[in-house]
This record gives sequence, structure tokens and C-alpha cells, in this order.
Amino acid sequence: MATNKQTQQDMPNAHLHELFIDELRDVLGAERQLLKGLKKLSSSAKSEKLKNAFQAHYGQTESHIDRLKQAFESLGLAARGKKCKAMEGLLKEAEEIIESFESDPAADAALIAAAQKVEHYEIASYGCLVTYAKLMEHTQAEELLSATLAEEKETDVLLTQIAMKESNVNGA
Ligand SMILES: [Fe+2]
Ligand SMILES: [Fe+2]
Repeated sequence: MATNKQTQQDMPNAHLHELFIDELRDVLGAERQLLKGLKKLSSSAKSEKLKNAFQAHYGQTESHIDRLKQAFESLGLAARGKKCKAMEGLLKEAEEIIESFESDPAADAALIAAAQKVEHYEIASYGCLVTYAKLMEHTQAEELLSATLAEEKETDVLLTQIAMKESNVNGA
């Protein structure tokens, strides 16, 4: 009886743990794929401010990868990523946008839109991961993931500011 009860209580967490690890692998893959994407975004940006923002986020993305490795380590697991299909699609679309708007006055605004879609995907991913880590009391992983979540949100705000101040106005 006691064993059954125990098993039932453990089950949801066991499943959540599997989901947590799977999502961690997905986001590690996504961050690695994004490094390439950010190089392309940065080299395509016309305004210096936007170019700098993409370059700065490249550096942040490297530290996001580092934090994910530390999170895996804190769970006693090897840091293994998997291909993120969503990031692949977002970056493919970004490339299409870059090509279509290359010589358009709204080119930078188009780059910002593509980058913000990426940021929102990352915010959703890290948001879920932070919740799972909290639920399962993986305190160290929770801290690492929260730090990255905060930077993704800051980047999103910064991109909106650049769009408001420069790109959209100049492109109009
Ligand atoms: Fe990131
Ligand atoms: Fe990001």
C-alpha cells in the first residue's frame, strides 16, 4: 500500500524530470544554432546600434550556452543538445526576410522583427524551464536559467527600443 502511494506521488515528478531534460537539450541546441544566425543578423544590420546589439547578444548567447552546461552539470548529466526545429524554422524565415528586404528602407525593422520572434521563443522556453526547476527544487539550475531568462527579456526590450528610435522611423 505504502509503496503504491509512494510510486503514485513520484510519477508526476519523474515525467516532469524527463520533460525538463528534453527541453534543456532543445534549448541548448537552439542557442548553438542561434550563434550562426546572430552572425548573419549582425552582418546584415545597417544601423550601427542594431549591429552592436546583435554582437552583444552573440556574447550573451555564448554565456547562455555556458549556463546550460552548468545546469546539466548540477543535475549530474552530460550537456547534450538536440536540433531545435523551431529555431531552425525561425532562422530560415530570418534568412528569407534578409533577402527580401536587403535593399528596402525597412531592412533593419525586418531584422528586428525576426530577432524578436527568436527572443520570444527563447523567453517561452526558459520560462517553462525555470518553472520546472522550481517545481522540482533544482535550485542551482533554477538560478542559472532565471539569469538567462532575464537577459533574453532585456534583449527583447532593447530591440523594441531600437525599432522605436531608429529603424521603423527611418524605414517609414
Ligand atoms: Fe539565449
Ligand atoms: Fe536570445
